Amino acid sequence: MTDDLYRDYILDHYKRPRNFGELDHPDLTAHEHNPLCGDELEVQIKVKDDRIEDLRFKGHGCAISQASASIASEELKGMELDEIGKLDADWALDLLGIPVSATRRKCALLGLKVVRGAVTGDNSWPVGSG
Ligand code: FES
Repeated sequence: MTDDLYRDYILDHYKRPRNFGELDHPDLTAHEHNPLCGDELEVQIKVKDDRIEDLRFKGHGCAISQASASIASEELKGMELDEIGKLDADWALDLLGIPVSATRRKCALLGLKVVRGAVTGDNSWPVGSG
């Protein structure tokens, strides 16, 4: 994709975030914030057969954080819980598809952080090679 298409792709996810809202009786939840800006993100997850059956994010944040969570949500549905702990920063950054500066990195990783926290209890920031 060209830069323009990437920009449109991210803006589309920001304006029409997928899987945002709430679930009835979620099995797992977590809540995180980006300490650099105070933006917050919560995830609610339904589990079935050791997989993420459904999930919803809610919260507020910049275009990068909201788009990143929206894009990730489409990949996370159906994923085995065992896989979630193995997802690293590269996974989330590759999905986003655009380079992010060091200061925006936490924006791009907030969605993965909150999902990992809900599933594994590990609330550290995802790390990766990039
Ligand atoms: Fe707050 Fe990006 S500026 S999450």
